[in-house]
Amino acid sequence: MRIVITENYDEMSRIGARIVARTINEKPNAVLGLATGGTPIGLYRELVRMHREEGLDFSRVTTFNLDEYVGLPKDSPASYHWFMRENLFQYLNIPEQNIYIPSGTTDNYEAFCTWYEARIRESGGIDLQLLGIGTDGHIAFNEPTSSLGSRTRIKTLAKQTILDNARYFERPEDVPIYAITMGVGTILEARKILILANGRYKAPAVAAMIEGPVTSMCTASALQMHPETVCVLDREATKDLQMLEYYEWVQEKSPGSPYRKRREDTPLL
Ligand code: GLP
Repeated sequence: MRIVITENYDEMSRIGARIVARTINEKPNAVLGLATGGTPIGLYRELVRMHREEGLDFSRVTTFNLDEYVGLPKDSPASYHWFMRENLFQYLNIPEQNIYIPSGTTDNYEAFCTWYEARIRESGGIDLQLLGIGTDGHIAFNEPTSSLGSRTRIKTLAKQTILDNARYFERPEDVPIYAITMGVGTILEARKILILANGRYKAPAVAAMIEGPVTSMCTASALQMHPETVCVLDREATKDLQMLEYYEWVQEKSPGSPYRKRREDTPLL
């Protein structure tokens, strides 16, 4: 894993956005895996700015979202469909037919999950998968003890996740208990993975992901098995890392590293 330590949320978001932009510049018809939650909002804002001010073109991009709550219609403000439209899609030029988000209201979940996996494959596979991390170390909605080979399916949410995500709902009892989510196995097939984490409260999960054993108790730890994962962290999220000095040393010294510690005005990638 490549660890990139940034000073704050804004810098984390800018660096993350540049990694996404580089993928699109190298491959204009890139397939992106997208995430929801508070973590990627700054990155999305930066992509919108790049689209407006720098002409970053999404007209040939395809996107697949990680997950959706079961039972929430697309027009529910707490749904991930709504989140994606509000925070990203309404501002970009991604063709409507290139946007895929798991359905929270299909009447045949099994068939839908099979179809979703097939669409990812038929689109050529995900070039860059963006991820956040839950406080229990989950990626997408792959809660602790999810199979590390799992595919898109329905998961029952952990009580901690329901509590963590209650802030996005009017009342805590409105948080759905089930979600449809890409599996850990689905995520690991992406060619590159970009995971972001910020805030002190994420530090234990970040340490378990990077330095803990590979275990289904922290599904993000499965990323240790992926050859091209970049973790972009803010300083607070690094607080529980035992090898922090080493990661800083690597970041400082790697010759030609695009993530090398730098002044803001020097090019990053
Ligand atoms: C949810 C999402 C995850 C996300 C996590 C963290 O559970 N399914 O994809 O990474 O929340 O959310 P936040 O970024 O708001 O901390």
